[in-house]
Amino acid sequence: MAATNVMTAPALPDPPIMNETPETYHYVPQDLSSKIPQTASLEVSQEIPQEEQSQESSHVVEPEIPETIQELPKEVAQELSTEEVKVTRQKPSTREGKPIIPVKDDLPPSERVTFDPAKHIKFTPPSKVWTMQELDYAEGQGISPVGVSEPFPLFSEEAVKQMRAEILSEKVWDKYKYSSNLSQCQLRGYAPECAPFIYDAWKSPEVLEIISKIAGIDLVPVMDWEIAHINIAVKSEEEKAKELEIVHRNADEGVADCALEEDDQPVVDWHTDSYPFVCVTMLSDCTTMVGGETMLRKGNGGTVKVRGPQMGSAVILQGRYIEHQALRALGAAERITSVTSFRPRSAAVKDDTVLTTVRGISDLKELYHQYAEYRFEILQDRFQAMGRKLRDRKRASRPFDTAATKRFIREQIEFLEAMDREMVSDELVQKGYIGDGHLVSEETRQTAKRRGLYVEETVAA
Ligand SMILES: [Fe+2]
Repeated sequence: MAATNVMTAPALPDPPIMNETPETYHYVPQDLSSKIPQTASLEVSQEIPQEEQSQESSHVVEPEIPETIQELPKEVAQELSTEEVKVTRQKPSTREGKPIIPVKDDLPPSERVTFDPAKHIKFTPPSKVWTMQELDYAEGQGISPVGVSEPFPLFSEEAVKQMRAEILSEKVWDKYKYSSNLSQCQLRGYAPECAPFIYDAWKSPEVLEIISKIAGIDLVPVMDWEIAHINIAVKSEEEKAKELEIVHRNADEGVADCALEEDDQPVVDWHTDSYPFVCVTMLSDCTTMVGGETMLRKGNGGTVKVRGPQMGSAVILQGRYIEHQALRALGAAERITSVTSFRPRSAAVKDDTVLTTVRGISDLKELYHQYAEYRFEILQDRFQAMGRKLRDRKRASRPFDTAATKRFIREQIEFLEAMDREMVSDELVQKGYIGDGHLVSEETRQTAKRRGLYVEETVAA
């Protein structure tokens, strides 16, 4: 079902001054129904190689038990400039070999279709959208009053089937598979070249309208490179059965939060995302799955748990501003999530994007190119709008506004300085390694280091 309400970008009432989010760009969904998201079902391959194991996946990053320095591939070691960065302990950047999931193009060309919003969107509004205010965040925190949505149906069964077929193609796995210290298997950047259905879905005005409406701000994918980042986690049937046995046994014994009793470590500890908004879509049948929720930190220090989506459903989170952690999911043999990140469509809205969690798992040249391109476009739009404002004031015989112009200049300088910081020199970016910069508290950092997820880094003067 396509969305019924058409959203249009609000017109600029006045040339913008940066770092202020005009109220005209904010709107809270008014017509969210109380329908419970539906559960879709789809036949998926469960033939998981016994020898392959993985950790659970999360929406952006997934932790993995680190291995030893001896296993660090040579080319990764060479990536580091040892004169400038001293790494006392390192991890493997990539894990070559056969895929952890059967990769087969099981959808013949005759069954491939193009994305059709009327057929492939199966949207039901979320039962609840938590506002930033409800999460006790101060007014003005973030770019929208919306914090997170409950899961909601978004794509039809056929859409999920098409997406899975595109993802599980050999070309995607050969060219676009990434691993890191936090995740064994991710597929990134493949959409423009290898996945026309997925690419068109996330670029379609209808999907963007739905995402924007729920998010409470007009959004676009942050860049093509981040369209449908895929997290993949696979367990053997044996592991899955063992987990379910533990879950059921603990449930019989009345143990609260039984899914976490065996290992109460979250998949990803408290952190914030690199991008303002994220939409996580489930592409696996996880009806037997237990756990897998996202825990959010409220502004007052309390926590709230948001359940994970079922197949074809999605969750939207303002993850750049809300501290969150991904809880472990048990009892699912296969878990494939699609994560598309978003930024504000309007150049007038602040863009606090960082590249902390993505530098090490990207084609760096492509990432930097797309990041620079869209950020420069924002600057062009801002300068054009500011130029018009100056001109209009002059024509209206208003005095030159020195203070506002200096403020504008300062904001653009800070915008460019942020770009300079984020575009870390190529030789200093270690492939397959995500640092701890996205972790929020020092306590979380120390915990993660004890778990062996991050290395001590010493940057020479
Ligand atoms: Fe996250």
